[in-house]
Amino acid sequence: MTASANAARVQTHTPDHQLTALEKFGKVPRPSLAYTEEVARETAPIYEKVKDFIPEIEWAALAPLVHAINKLKKERNAVILAHNYMTPDIFHGVADIVGDSLQLAKEAAKTEAEIIVQCGVHFMAETSKILSPEKTVLIPDMNAGCSLAESITGEDVRRLREANPGVPIITYVNTSADVKAECDICCTSSNAVQVVEAMGTDKVLLVPDQYLAANVGRQTDVEVLTWAGSCEVHEQFTAQELRDYRAIEPGVKIIAHPECPPEVVDEADFAGSTAHMINWVKDNRPEKVMMITECSMADNVANATPEVEYIRPCNLCPHMKRITLTKILDTLVDLSGEVVVDEDIAARARVSVERMINLKN
Ligand code: 13P
Ligand code: SF4
Repeated sequence: MTASANAARVQTHTPDHQLTALEKFGKVPRPSLAYTEEVARETAPIYEKVKDFIPEIEWAALAPLVHAINKLKKERNAVILAHNYMTPDIFHGVADIVGDSLQLAKEAAKTEAEIIVQCGVHFMAETSKILSPEKTVLIPDMNAGCSLAESITGEDVRRLREANPGVPIITYVNTSADVKAECDICCTSSNAVQVVEAMGTDKVLLVPDQYLAANVGRQTDVEVLTWAGSCEVHEQFTAQELRDYRAIEPGVKIIAHPECPPEVVDEADFAGSTAHMINWVKDNRPEKVMMITECSMADNVANATPEVEYIRPCNLCPHMKRITLTKILDTLVDLSGEVVVDEDIAARARVSVERMINLKN
């Protein structure tokens, strides 16, 4: 038998992890997006939660997307993880799990679904992939970035380590896998003080958010060195603006995210992660509140706290706002936007993220 005849008899099998998501899970037909009576009836309970923000005429266009996404995610055995900054149609309409960065990372580590659709920004999807390497992780828009994640590279961290021997390097979760791989441990805004103190040293480096680091540094005796990164959304708030709002709205409670500059946090009644801010409103039920953060937060919590009046100066995150229902449906149909992380980088980054997740409270 000739060599070429032999070769023709050899069957090639591509290992599962080398297949594209579409090759692995197969095609599905694109669903119809008509606003039928069935769609209106089945999405009515969801509309109840968002009707203050979405006019009926707009819902006629959104409801078929919500309906199709919810059906298709079951068929695909997919879970939708959505950050608290997603718009209410996503947050209340299609998300299976909502939360802050820490909650989403924990959920990604334990989900049983084969596919994770990450409704948030790219570093969040990468974190899910790092924690669940065997799962398919999809993001509806690959260009959903973050000014903090853009501000530092793995090479920068290697240089910082050389310049600061023996000083533990903590990375905020808002960074690339490459940066996480070079650091000792990860943190989020809900556990940064705890992580800093868990290092057991007099000094730490907390990168890349200079404002988070400054806010954390004021809550601990540990010296917190940092990097010149910042969140383009939270750095825009000013202390004077907050003082002006208090003058116009006497009695208003002001709560802020710790990515805001320290002088802004000083003017606030409370500062915490997005989940901690939501819980603060639910626990304290103030008459009037201002959330010094991304705009969707107030919309998403408003329906669970009807007695609270939300005063709404806020800043939009252009990266978070890239995620839309249309793109989520496209992702589920085409299985596009697959997040891939180099295996060696992922393995090293996983050590940093798991060290954080496994910290005892
Ligand atoms: P949280 O961890 O508080 O949800 O923050 C994520 C984020 O990107 C805030 O800008
Ligand atoms: Fe990044 Fe700021 Fe947007 Fe959060 S709000 S994703 S930190 S740019």
